[in-house]
Amino acid sequence: MQYLIGVDLGTSGTKTVLFDIHGKEIASALEEYPMYQPYNGWAEQEPDDWWKAAMNTIKAVIAKSGVDSKDIAGLSLSGQMHGLVLTDENGNALGRSIIWCDNRTIESCEEFTRLVGGRERLIQIAANPALTGFTAGKVLWVREHEPEIWAKARHIQLPKDYVRLKLTGEYHMDMSDASGTNLLDVPNRCWSQEICEKTGIPMDMLPPLVESSDVAGRITEEAARLTGLPVGMPVAAGAGDNMAAAIGTGVVRESKAFTTIGTSGVVFAHSNSVQIDPAGRVHTFCAAVPGQYIVMGVGLAAGMSLKWCRDTFFQSEIEVAREMGTDSYVLMNQEAARSPIGANRLIYLPYLMGERSPILDPESRGVLFGLSAMHTKKDIVRAVMEGVMYSQWHNLNVLRGMHVAPNAMLACGGGAKSPFWRQMMADMFNMPVATLQNTEGPALGAAILAGVGAGIYKDVPSACEEILKESEPLLPDAERHAAYEPYFDLYQKIYLDLKNEFHTLAQL
Ligand code: XUL
Repeated sequence: MQYLIGVDLGTSGTKTVLFDIHGKEIASALEEYPMYQPYNGWAEQEPDDWWKAAMNTIKAVIAKSGVDSKDIAGLSLSGQMHGLVLTDENGNALGRSIIWCDNRTIESCEEFTRLVGGRERLIQIAANPALTGFTAGKVLWVREHEPEIWAKARHIQLPKDYVRLKLTGEYHMDMSDASGTNLLDVPNRCWSQEICEKTGIPMDMLPPLVESSDVAGRITEEAARLTGLPVGMPVAAGAGDNMAAAIGTGVVRESKAFTTIGTSGVVFAHSNSVQIDPAGRVHTFCAAVPGQYIVMGVGLAAGMSLKWCRDTFFQSEIEVAREMGTDSYVLMNQEAARSPIGANRLIYLPYLMGERSPILDPESRGVLFGLSAMHTKKDIVRAVMEGVMYSQWHNLNVLRGMHVAPNAMLACGGGAKSPFWRQMMADMFNMPVATLQNTEGPALGAAILAGVGAGIYKDVPSACEEILKESEPLLPDAERHAAYEPYFDLYQKIYLDLKNEFHTLAQL
């Protein structure tokens, strides 16, 4: 039997999973690391923490599984996107990486957009506006604020590319992750000479581009000694986390889509051709399937909203759940189910961290609208779950307007374990909602890419077909859909009505 390894380089930690070639999980290991927030709105991580976590978890899965490392046919990576890793001429990281959820670059993004010739031109080339989360604003910020680091920088890398560099000694970036830099000509899958020239970012700092399933180097002797992997084993390029998750959930053909309720919320659809929202409300990236594209809306506080609700209002349920040996979220779901659709006229806007898609407003904030003395915890938790799902519906409607929306949805992430939330998704989206038996989306996606690179599978879609099994879907209910509609209309209007007030609040 041969085996494949998927390394999922996340924000709270790196999870590495060893699978057999039928997608069965054999062993997994997780190593966590800190996120540094030296100032409000800043977020940084240590690239060498990622490398150590990858090294240790690779070693751990080989040891736990007991497989002969010679039977491991390949490895690939899923990575948190957008983080800027600057390295010197020897490939050493020059300090901490500014990561995807850092918001310090509002001015640098404005400057970048101005240099490119305006928002419209930027979206034409890069398919997306300059967002504070994306990489280019971070490059301009370092150039202006840390000139001594910029002077030593020779290579621009993304988080997982840095780890792959340590494994293989080679510089590469895959199209899916490169799409989140604002420097890629997304429709033509090449670095944009125009953007680089206009913004003064040297093109020779950008690594060669490859597709996600391409072999982007082989394990060096040094990396073999450090990880236990065989020398010369192929390492496929890998993908940005959502694009890797798409492979791991089989969203690899037109009309396939998934919705993630993780810390953040993602509504993601595959597309055979490049589809760009001229208003830039959702992201258009290259897919991890060679030559293909995706469109996705990212909401910043999905599961995070429910966690906030739990930690703020449901302390006693946390204790009861512990005594009963169950999960506090199960008890919260039971509470929510006791409140009717519309939560007794209570509407929640989930903008706890400001919001990306589709409103693109870092200064927006959470709202509980319509609070009355008759409301209890059951209404609050229901309103929070509904508000998170309204935000996903809001993104789905942008995808519908772009003609990339599906007729059926796959639900992923921790929140998708809740049948109550999945039924709410089916009712609001008005489509069947299924789940997958294997829940290791990004790591499995990376392992599938590794298998294609190593020649085990013919291509990505056929590997997914062979490996992934969907559950029976939950079906939508027309009456419940109609009952949600007026609340959803009001949900959208509340943000528009409060937009200026959010900005005033931010200035106080
Ligand atoms: C995508 C995005 C997140 C990060 C971290 O645009 O910002 O998915 O990759 O998970």
